[in-house]
Amino acid sequence: TKKVTTSVLLDMKQQGQKITSLTAYDASFAKLFDEQGVDVILIGDSLGMVLQGKDDTLSVTTEDIAYHTRAVSAACQRSFVVADMPFMSYSTPEVTYENAAKLMQAGASMVKIEGGDWLVDTIKGLNQRGVPVCGHLGLTPQSVHVFGGFKVQGRDDLQAEQMVEQAQALEAAGIQLLVLECVPTSLAEKISHAVKVPVIGIGAGVKTDGQVLVMHDMFGISANYMPKFSKNYLQETGDIRKAVAQFIEEVKTGAFPSEAHSFN
Ligand code: KIV
Ligand code: NA
Repeated sequence: TKKVTTSVLLDMKQQGQKITSLTAYDASFAKLFDEQGVDVILIGDSLGMVLQGKDDTLSVTTEDIAYHTRAVSAACQRSFVVADMPFMSYSTPEVTYENAAKLMQAGASMVKIEGGDWLVDTIKGLNQRGVPVCGHLGLTPQSVHVFGGFKVQGRDDLQAEQMVEQAQALEAAGIQLLVLECVPTSLAEKISHAVKVPVIGIGAGVKTDGQVLVMHDMFGISANYMPKFSKNYLQETGDIRKAVAQFIEEVKTGAFPSEAHSFN
């Protein structure tokens, strides 16, 4: 089996093949997802919520992500492994390089950072030092206290227009993948067309280049609550491997997310 790389992901977008992604935090689930054919495995700072039981992601550290990245990357043969940089671990370019090095040395093939054009120098610097970058726009959970809650972003015209510009700024800076979280379907579609890099949506409708879910949400076992945009595939299939296969199938065919799992 051919390993997924940034160029494979770019080809998939150009050929209109949907990209599938799940979070994972340990070797057993990572191996299962890898074997089922999940393209991108993300060690998300969502682990603060689903593994550590917190209300948000802010307490997660680079050491936490590095620990889980070592476990996940050891189990992945084919999947592309992306590690989240946690809250304040990329506050300046210098701080970022040091923390990104820890995650790449733990086995990640790319790091993900939340935010818009304030990250341009950071992204350029990471690329120059050999670190590919995934952007993350829309509902960026590390900014939950600025947003005043976990809310859909980009609902009004000005906000929407600014988000398109931010995506283009990130692309010009050098990101090779972009996560869009909790934005209206029409805006996510617009952004997916406005950039050449693949756009992976979560709560962003069916028009993006791929879909990502937090694994605990897609199995319906999250400690906190089930977001509207997620779907319990374990309940539907009664088997973990079948649940993952069903998720992949529905993403590939465009059956997921439906209107019920999207925002307008
Ligand atoms: O932390 C996470 O799991 C994420 C995904 C939801 C995109 O950032
Ligand atoms: Na995250």
